[in-house]
Amino acid sequence: MNNQNKMKRDFFPVTLGSLKTDTVIGCDIYLLVSNNGTSSYVLYCKGDTAFENDKRELLVRKNINRLFVGNEDQQKYSEYLESNLPAILSDEKVKPAEKAKIVYGTATTMLNDVFTEPVHKNIVRSQTFAYNLIDYILREGKAADNLLKITSHDYYTYTHSVNVATIGSLFAKSMGLNEKDMKSFCTGMLLHDLGKTKISSRILNKNGPLTDDEFKKIKMHPEAGAEILRESGSGFNDEYLVILQHHENCDGSGYPHGLKKEEIHYVSRLVHIIDIYDALTTRRSYSPPKKPYDSLKLITSEMYNSVDKEMLKSFIRFLGGYRG
Ligand SMILES: [Fe+2]
Repeated sequence: MNNQNKMKRDFFPVTLGSLKTDTVIGCDIYLLVSNNGTSSYVLYCKGDTAFENDKRELLVRKNINRLFVGNEDQQKYSEYLESNLPAILSDEKVKPAEKAKIVYGTATTMLNDVFTEPVHKNIVRSQTFAYNLIDYILREGKAADNLLKITSHDYYTYTHSVNVATIGSLFAKSMGLNEKDMKSFCTGMLLHDLGKTKISSRILNKNGPLTDDEFKKIKMHPEAGAEILRESGSGFNDEYLVILQHHENCDGSGYPHGLKKEEIHYVSRLVHIIDIYDALTTRRSYSPPKKPYDSLKLITSEMYNSVDKEMLKSFIRFLGGYRG
């Protein structure tokens, strides 16, 4: 321990469980040390050196689980979590609630990058993440309880996308989807609103009714999303369906193609329900978040013909198992 930090900086806490032995973390790790009534951040592991087992063991012996990273290194720490996600999620020493937080935080940062810059490199990151998320959901018994607890209720396109992928994958698992399909459709769920990157934020965040012209532009986002995916050259197949069809209604009143129930892919019908549910349970610029029960009641009373009725019943049963 050396190099006492005297500069005025802000730090955020990270857990010991998130740091893997013998990895280079990429950002300096600090301890918060109290001495004679004053606290200071002390450098514990330099970002360009390996986090060795001796360092971990010393912390375990002293029962220290909370370390710190400078705020300016937030991005580097997120990148570290993302590239070490499989190791973190399969580590039995990391608590289930902490894993869920790491999964959710990593997804949010990654999708923020995808929506800011929807290029091949970032789109591939979303696919890698989707695979890790499904492995975690299939392996970890407590994944659903913990993930459902932390889904964000503030609406941003990227947090909404994380919510849809998380709730959608858990629901897909309960509906018996196999692992291969879950992995490809999870990527589609993460990217289902990718086409919104082509729509002005003035329209997306408009606080009031949309004009016909504005709604016409919004309706372009499923095809725009599929187009971005094609242009990125990322070699996807099934992912397109979720992006293209998530606003199709079972009664044919949806967009972009006005498909009927039997023409809409099973997973697109599933995402359609989760998409509506998450939008209702999340705070929007024009309305406060609704309670899960009220949201389901509203879908049942006002959108019953547009959703797959049997699937909606299954979704209500699925949520009932977690939210009572
Ligand atoms: Fe959408």
